Amino acid sequence: MEIKIRNYQTQDTEAIVEILNHYIANSTALYDYDPRSIEQQLAIFNEKLQKGFPVIVATIDAVLVGFGYYSEFRFREAYKFTVEHSVYVAENEHGKGIGKVLLQHLITLAKEQKLHTMVAVIDSENQGSIKFHEKSGFEIVGTVKESGYKFDRWLHSVFMQLLLE
Ligand SMILES: CC(C)(COP(=O)(O)OP(=O)(O)OC[C@H]1O[C@@H](n2cnc3c(N)ncnc32)[C@H](O)[C@@H]1OP(=O)(O)O)[C@@H](O)C(=O)NCCC(=O)NCCS
Repeated sequence: MEIKIRNYQTQDTEAIVEILNHYIANSTALYDYDPRSIEQQLAIFNEKLQKGFPVIVATIDAVLVGFGYYSEFRFREAYKFTVEHSVYVAENEHGKGIGKVLLQHLITLAKEQKLHTMVAVIDSENQGSIKFHEKSGFEIVGTVKESGYKFDRWLHSVFMQLLLE
């Protein structure tokens, strides 16, 4: 089983939306309520790419099994060396090292872009993602309590950070 990483292409969007919409409907990994359309996701990625941020995908035997990206953390100028990233792996492909390869690739790209720190904002119920990030050296730096509301309950956003230098 070889995991390959390459840059996102427009024709990947359908497979990506399928993965995202599964997590939107069934988890607090995303704070969206409604499924995304292919057009919406295309626009989201195009904006990131136009700003020079990466969107990458992982494939096994040419099948898209995961993806990841980063873009600005906040919009004021002084935040320009900080990015917020996300990584998603299809549920039936968890635990095979795909997420780790994607995250390591994003870390390498962020270093190449001379960025200083990466931030993940993770729902506190998503302990799997918190453990996953800890394995790659991220540490919890704070929790914004009751910052989300989904499935009739308050959600807490855990901020995790990796300093790149
Ligand atoms: C979080 C996620 C990306 C992890 O991807 P994955 O391909 O299953 O993870 P990997 O197999 O690469 O695991 C890498 C390491 O993290 C650990 N890990 C991954 N998932 C874990 C879990 N649920 N519980 C504990 N540890 C976990 C692995 O044990 C592994 O440790 P190792 O380096 O010591 O071997 C994946 O579970 C996912 O897509 N979840 C849903 C979406 C999501 O929450 N994305 C993150 C939003 S910020």
